[in-house]
Amino acid sequence: MLEIKDLYVEFGGKEILKGLSLKLEKGKIHALMGPNGSGKTTLAHVLMGDPRYKISKGKILLNGIDITGLAPNERALLGLFLSFQTPVEIEGVKLSVFLRQAYNSLNKNKLSILEFKELLEKKAEELKIPKEFLSRYLNKGFSGGEKKKAEVLQLLVLNPIVAILDETDSGLDIDSLKTVARGVNSFMDKDKCLLIITHYKRILEYVKPNKVSIMLNGKIVNDGSSNLVDELESKGYEWLKN
Ligand SMILES: Nc1ncnc2c1ncn2[C@@H]1O[C@H](COP(=O)(O)OP(=O)(O)OP(=O)(O)O)[C@@H](O)[C@H]1O
Ligand SMILES: [Mg+2]
Repeated sequence: MLEIKDLYVEFGGKEILKGLSLKLEKGKIHALMGPNGSGKTTLAHVLMGDPRYKISKGKILLNGIDITGLAPNERALLGLFLSFQTPVEIEGVKLSVFLRQAYNSLNKNKLSILEFKELLEKKAEELKIPKEFLSRYLNKGFSGGEKKKAEVLQLLVLNPIVAILDETDSGLDIDSLKTVARGVNSFMDKDKCLLIITHYKRILEYVKPNKVSIMLNGKIVNDGSSNLVDELESKGYEWLKN
């Protein structure tokens, strides 16, 4: 469904992705792990079309369509979604207004304020997000965990086809992690695919990956089944560095 072919990416003259190839299949959950600074977030941003990064080689295909040169909004229209590792705070824009704008930009069937309110409140309830959050400014003053929950609310409301979750589990308390995992599982179906970037085994116990890939120094160095996560827990990343 999403295919990344031999991708080389630089930022400010420094090469960050160095020949990365990865395939995400329809109906499958793919986990991506790797040490700090290995380039996971860079990959996520490049997949979404962040213009700050320069692609020097390689391409990205979504359902066979080359999206390497497309703008982020064009990618979103094709069904791509990214949950940010560090969501930005936007003062003056209410969460509910932001989500309705995003929803109506992506869907032919536009929803009125009332219709959208109904959808939003249902999804917020699933994630145990109190109603008053919906009228607060986007991420403004949200705690770390609340920001992550707001990202997952966005996932459930926009209902994309390919979702990339960049450390959505980090900062969540034990109950919130379970709630978020339930939400993510309810999003997933046989026609979608999911890339979960994480450092921890915990989320993968609730959202079970079909495949796990390990990224080191800008490329994929190993992949396997979820057993690989246990191996990483006990051995760390050192054994992969050679
Ligand atoms: N916008 C940027 N400005 C400066 N350096 C950057 C930028 N984006 C990425 N880098 C550098 O690229 C490397 C990869 O960073 P990236 O955030 O992709 O790592 P990561 O694998 O997501 O790490 P973590 O697990 O800590 O989130 C790092 O050395 C980082 O400092
Ligand atoms: Mg990161």
